[in-house]
Amino acid sequence: MHNPTDAPLPGRGMATQALHTGRHLTAERENSPSVFLTSSFVFESAAQAQATFAGSEAGNVYSRFTNPSVAAFEERIAALENGEKALATASGMAAITTLFLTLLSAGDHLVLSRSVFGSTTTIATTLLARMAIQTSHVPLADLDAWRRAITPQTRLFFLETPANPTLELADLAALAQLAAEHGIILAVDNVFCTPCLQRPLDLGAQVVVHSGTKYLDGQGRVLGGAIVGNRALLMEKVYPYLRNAGPVLSPFNAWVLFKGLETLPLRMERQCDNAAHIATYLTERLHPPMVVHYPGLPSHPQHALAARQMRRFGAIVCLDLGSRAQAHRFIDSLQLATITANLGDVRTLVTHPATTTHGRLAPEMRAAAGVTDGLVRLSVGLEDVADIIADLDQALVQTEQ
Ligand SMILES: Cc1ncc(COP(=O)(O)O)c(C=O)c1O
Repeated sequence: MHNPTDAPLPGRGMATQALHTGRHLTAERENSPSVFLTSSFVFESAAQAQATFAGSEAGNVYSRFTNPSVAAFEERIAALENGEKALATASGMAAITTLFLTLLSAGDHLVLSRSVFGSTTTIATTLLARMAIQTSHVPLADLDAWRRAITPQTRLFFLETPANPTLELADLAALAQLAAEHGIILAVDNVFCTPCLQRPLDLGAQVVVHSGTKYLDGQGRVLGGAIVGNRALLMEKVYPYLRNAGPVLSPFNAWVLFKGLETLPLRMERQCDNAAHIATYLTERLHPPMVVHYPGLPSHPQHALAARQMRRFGAIVCLDLGSRAQAHRFIDSLQLATITANLGDVRTLVTHPATTTHGRLAPEMRAAAGVTDGLVRLSVGLEDVADIIADLDQALVQTEQ
């Protein structure tokens, strides 16, 4: 019987993998994958229940442990990131917090980039600090600072590249080498790039985390997250915590993310095209002290690194308008772009990080993260690029008045 899911997939292209990996037909032979909205699974007998619980017989028991819709998403995102295994979580922050809590113990030391999502810093400075896990916050791009921060207790390096929202980069291959020399795990939040633009595991990182809420869904519908890496590390260290503590992905959200991944390669290409046009337009349109941040611009201080490490330059463009008042005025003048705290949507989204996503950080932490009061983050969508540019232009005219 012809069964498309049995086709061997390793070695196929990213778009093919995104469409076919993890597609396991049931006896109904559905073309679009079904969603397993069930909290538990049925046993044939008490003896089978005992054997499945004990692990001597394979099978689903309870959706906090395993669920076919969640497993399908895990299989697909693992293949795209070129990882052996993925574990799905309820959100991106659930993935990051789970990683910290399972790889670090009291007395351990974490080296954390200063330029990470606000909640990541908050977890380190509150929850981890209460558990006697020390954190050093280092400038993302300064390799010597990462080296100097290492202590005999350092177990984990954690960063985003490009960082949210400064679009600063880390040299992943160099950091991976430094981490390996000291037996430290390098974990990378790959939200801004997705595997379509950058695969940290190929560059030497051991773990990738995702907020599926962003580009993986791509349509702003559900929260979700994933941890991807070496099977033994994930199954021995991370899985027992997920199974018992339960910050797992819901089957419905897993199904939405699974479907979202099918169009990810296509969306990323078009959104990168639009972002490149917008960054060029803004460079010509804005005058100092206003600045545009985009790794694809030759003026970006790490443009050469971006060209080496990323397949394309991403779909986030940031502009610094000098002050909070100017940034708010610009945002309020936009008519097409949506004001919201998310990113990675098919629609163009605009955010003022200093007063939203990074608003709860102490001012000195915010400044260290490079989140200035005038910074505006544009998550470029799939609209006709001329329409996005016209919207930005009329908003700039109003801001300049
Ligand atoms: C880079 C990055 N990592 C992690 C997160 C957290 O993801 P979630 O909102 O799914 O918990 C975000 C959310 O904005 C993010 O931008």
